[in-house]
Amino acid sequence: MEQTILEADGIYHVYESKAEDGNVVALRGLHISMKSGEAIAVVGPSGSGKSTLMKCLGGLMKPSAGSVTLDGKNMTRLTGKELVELRQKTVSFIFQEGNLLPDLNARDNVAQPLRHQGVKSRKALKIADAMLERLGMGHRGHAIPELLSGGEQQRVAIARALITQPRLILADEPTGALDPVTSREVLALFKDLHENDGVSFLIVTHSKEVAAFADRSLELRDGRFVAEHGTNIDVEDLTKDRELIIDETGTVTLPPDILVRLGGSGRYTVGNLNSGYISLQGEEVESIGNLELVDICPACKYKFENKEDQICPACGSSRPMVEV
Ligand SMILES: Nc1ncnc2c1ncn2[C@@H]1O[C@H](COP(=O)(O)OP(=O)(O)OP(=O)(O)O)[C@@H](O)[C@H]1O
Ligand SMILES: [Mg+2]
Repeated sequence: MEQTILEADGIYHVYESKAEDGNVVALRGLHISMKSGEAIAVVGPSGSGKSTLMKCLGGLMKPSAGSVTLDGKNMTRLTGKELVELRQKTVSFIFQEGNLLPDLNARDNVAQPLRHQGVKSRKALKIADAMLERLGMGHRGHAIPELLSGGEQQRVAIARALITQPRLILADEPTGALDPVTSREVLALFKDLHENDGVSFLIVTHSKEVAAFADRSLELRDGRFVAEHGTNIDVEDLTKDRELIIDETGTVTLPPDILVRLGGSGRYTVGNLNSGYISLQGEEVESIGNLELVDICPACKYKFENKEDQICPACGSSRPMVEV
């Protein structure tokens, strides 16, 4: 059986606020199931809840409702100490910036997570030096973060994230502050860890290359996943190549552009249930674009050729229309 490294079940997050606009509901009942060794990208507009999601999934923030299971353990049920231990041995975070402690030099920053796990200082520093070397930062080990460029700081942060050999890396726009060359190097390193060490990645990104590295991408909108995309994702135009998601509660959230094209919120008649397709017909909505009968029966794969049948002669399903 394939192992699940991370699972979220119906998580909500509300930021409480006394301000006039009141509480902000940042996550609205999210489900995610991540197999061990998988790489998933999270894409979506600013304010859609990406960073909130990462913090809830990594146990940095407790979701207002719902549960998160990391490496088979339900984090919502753990004590503070158990949670810290589970996090330390399983997951590392990489944020867009501000990952480093300003008063420690690069090697001390990188060695710190190992020290927290009780590794002796000399040994931790030795491993830190090797990791910095691997990220092309061996020569800058004694510099404090302030003296490093943005890209160098990020490479130190990545070394720090990798030093504990985590099975899962949660990264929030990890290449956002990097120039294209460094960005490519970091991505190559992620690929190496993914392919050769089986490390799982969940990465928030706006980058085409990073999204293409992921096995699949989830599109977040207003605190809900509205669609999944494959490796051919176009981060600039998420309306292309979408697969809609129906979650465990039977909820499907339509991306806003699809909802608009359908005719907005309201009641829809459901047709074609037996065909393995659902077609929704709005009351006042004329079909948009040109529709044609499908060539191949979605239920039994019967080829209609040039026939005009409305019912599949092989399995009796009604023949759906597709837009051309
Ligand atoms: N500490 C907070 N207090 C109150 N509201 C917050 C807080 N942090 C985030 N929010 C709100 O929650 C929603 C989701 O924010 P979040 O930072 O998760 O979005 P994001 O997708 O990461 O955006 P970006 O792409 O800009 O980083 C937004 O409406 C934001 O204003
Ligand atoms: Mg964010």
